[in-house]
Amino acid sequence: GYNFLAWIKLSKCHTAFDGATQEQVKCCPPYSTAKVVDFVPPPSHEPLRVRQPAHKLEAEYVEKFKEGIARMKALPADDPWNFMQQATIHYTYCNGAYDQVGFNEEVLLQVHGSWLFLPWHRYYLYFYERIIGRLIGDPTFALPIWNWDTQEGMRIPKIYLDTSSPLYNDLRNKSHYTALFDYKFAFGDPNPSPPQEEEVITHNLHILHKMFKESEKSPSLFMGKPVVAGEAVPSNASGSLENLHNDVHMWTGPSKSPYHDMGNFYTAAHDIMFFGHHANVDKMWDIYNSSRGHTPEFKQDDWLEASFVFYDENRQVVKCKLQYSYQAENLPWMSICR
Ligand code: C2O
Repeated sequence: GYNFLAWIKLSKCHTAFDGATQEQVKCCPPYSTAKVVDFVPPPSHEPLRVRQPAHKLEAEYVEKFKEGIARMKALPADDPWNFMQQATIHYTYCNGAYDQVGFNEEVLLQVHGSWLFLPWHRYYLYFYERIIGRLIGDPTFALPIWNWDTQEGMRIPKIYLDTSSPLYNDLRNKSHYTALFDYKFAFGDPNPSPPQEEEVITHNLHILHKMFKESEKSPSLFMGKPVVAGEAVPSNASGSLENLHNDVHMWTGPSKSPYHDMGNFYTAAHDIMFFGHHANVDKMWDIYNSSRGHTPEFKQDDWLEASFVFYDENRQVVKCKLQYSYQAENLPWMSICR
């Protein structure tokens, strides 16, 4: 199984490499000598957290979200809940900040580009959301969704564009602030002109429809192909959902190298839009999973036994098995609004 704990030595974290800037970057989480405990899914009597579309949020909810992020940013730099610490987790698990124990060192620890993509990000958001809830004392807090799969969501939701808000990030493609997102976007493309917009929306929806249709019977097409412990992620192993998700990153971030923030693994989670974007990706996995009767898409042990390590909302390091992400009845994030 792809077991992070057996696979890496948490105490042996070092700098990682950012391909775009060719620089070594620091991305190690604060090291804790405390015992790692097994993740326990939330009890079913916990209040439901409902993830709502960012463009439909009530003013009061937006204030709550802003307050949570402001508090995360105000924490001491070495607190595992600190905004930058949380953002850095994304990089730690992508670009070789840990050596693999007992395997070829050339093989990077990488959660993108394969079937690990969806479950890893699900856990990442799960804890992020609960940490914000803790910081504002609201056990019902749920991350807003940037639902770029609907017509209204095909533009950047306004909550992210208020320059005086803690949700603002200046390192984005400013020419896209009010533009319509064309899924076929490539760097250098002009924004769709108003007369073209209808057509672009229809085409985007068509791409989504096709994506679900084509992969109905083939989870690896939608979610990505297998990667097993000790092996590098094979090329072309990413699923159609991850590929489309990459375009959203590219469109949001600046069009020039090093593409900070949203266009680069290293910095993507420095932008709070990352979490709205991924809440949408997770929603689409949920839709896919329910369309197949809520059963695990893969039967291999390498899938069911895979596990990750995170800081939870008690600042405790927990080991999360992938299996748990299927206990839908208990998992409040499954209750999401489109
Ligand atoms: Cu870890 Cu949107 O990528």
